[in-house]
Amino acid sequence: MKKFKFIDLFSGIGGFHQAMENLGGECVFASEIDSHCIETYYNNYKIDANHNVRGVAAEDIPVHDVLCAGFPCQAFSKAGYQKGMSDTRGTLFFEIERILKHHKTKYIILENVRNLVSHDQGNTWKTIHSHLKALGYRLTPVPIIISPHQFGIPQLRERVVILGIYDPENANKDLQITFDNLLGKDENSIYTVLDDGKVDDKYYISEKEEYVINAWDEFYKGIKETVIGFPIWAEYFKDKDAEEDFPEWKKEFIRKNKSLYQLNKKFIDSWLKKYNNLNDFTPTHRKMEWQAGNKINSLWEGVIQFRPSGIRVKTPTCFPALVAMVQIPIIGKYKRRLTVREAARLQSFPNSFKPDADDHQAYKQFGNAVNVMVIEQAARKLFDY
Ligand SMILES: C[S@@+](CC[C@H](N)C(=O)[O-])C[C@H]1O[C@@H](n2cnc3c(N)ncnc32)[C@H](O)[C@@H]1O
Repeated sequence: MKKFKFIDLFSGIGGFHQAMENLGGECVFASEIDSHCIETYYNNYKIDANHNVRGVAAEDIPVHDVLCAGFPCQAFSKAGYQKGMSDTRGTLFFEIERILKHHKTKYIILENVRNLVSHDQGNTWKTIHSHLKALGYRLTPVPIIISPHQFGIPQLRERVVILGIYDPENANKDLQITFDNLLGKDENSIYTVLDDGKVDDKYYISEKEEYVINAWDEFYKGIKETVIGFPIWAEYFKDKDAEEDFPEWKKEFIRKNKSLYQLNKKFIDSWLKKYNNLNDFTPTHRKMEWQAGNKINSLWEGVIQFRPSGIRVKTPTCFPALVAMVQIPIIGKYKRRLTVREAARLQSFPNSFKPDADDHQAYKQFGNAVNVMVIEQAARKLFDY
C-alpha cells in the first residue's frame, strides 16, 4: 500500500504508529488517556493524543484507511479479573465498533493479549468476531497469535492480532492469512538487541545481588543435577517439613527438595555453612528457579530475574515478555539489567525514539506497547491480501 491514513486508538506510546509509518502511513488521529503516554507520544510524533475514546464523536475523527487499536487488555489478561465483556474496560471494544460503524474503515488491525482467545470459553472472541462480521468485515476464522521471537526479536510475547478488511459482500468468506518461516524461541539470541559496551551505572546490579547470584551459581555447579525441574527452596532442605494443608504440588516440590539435599548432602552442607545458612538472604533470595535445562552451565550465562517466587534463570535465547511493572531482567554476562534503550529495541522501536525521561515510566510504557515488528509483518500481509 502506498500513502495511506491511519488512526491510533488507545495509542500508548505508538507501537502501531511506528509500524504504520514504516509502511508509508500518516497518522490523522490518536487517542490516549494516560498523561505520561500522551507526553511521550507528543515528544515523538508532535500529535496531541489527549482524547478519551469514550468521549470522541465518530464524526470528529478524520477520514482514514486503517484503524489501529491495541485495546486495553486488563479485562482479558490472565492476571486481570477475567470479567471480559462485562468489565467496563472490556467494553472498550464497543467503542471501536461505534467508530467503525460510522467510518466503515477499509482495514482494521486490533491487538490484545493471548488470553483473549480462550477467555469465557471462547465467547469473548466469538462476540468480537460476530460483531465485526456484522459490520461487513472479512476476518480470519481463528485469531492470529504471533510473537516477536518468531521474527527474530528475542522476546517471547504471544499476542492476538485481529485483521479485517471492510468488504460487506464477502464478509462471510474467511481471510486466509498465515505466516511462514517463523523462528522458534531457541533460534534467537538476546545479544542481538544488547549494547555490549559500558552502560549507565544505574543499570549494574548491586554487590548484594552479585553475592546472591554467586552463591546460587556455586550451588548449581556443586550439585550433581544439571536439569532441575522444580523450584529450589533452601528452607525445606532439612529444617522444615511440608504442612498438612499444603496443596499436593507444593508437597511434591518439598519432597523433591529434600531428596536433592540427601543426594548432595556433603556439598550442600558445606555450601550452607559458607553462606551462614542463608540467614543474610531475604526469603525470596533463598529460592531459585532454574528454567534453562542443560543449555547453559552457569547463572552468569543466563537471563536472571529476581522474582517474588525466587531467582529465576533462563537461557539467553529470548527475554520473557516485557510487561508492565515486573522485574527488569538481568543479563548475567554483563551483570546488569536491561536498559531502557534495549527495552525499546525488544519492542522494535527505533534508536531515534525518545522514551519517557523516568525509567520506571519508560519500562512500563514499553511493556504496555505493541511490538512494532509484529504489527508491521501482520499489516503487510493484510495490505497485500
Ligand atoms: C495495551 S495499551 C496500548 C499500547 C499501545 N498499543 C502502544 O503501542 O503503546 C492500552 C492503552 O489504552 C489506554 N486507554 C485506556 N482507556 C482508554 C480510553 N478510554 N481512551 C483512550 N485510551 C485509553 C491506556 O492508558 C493504555 O495506554
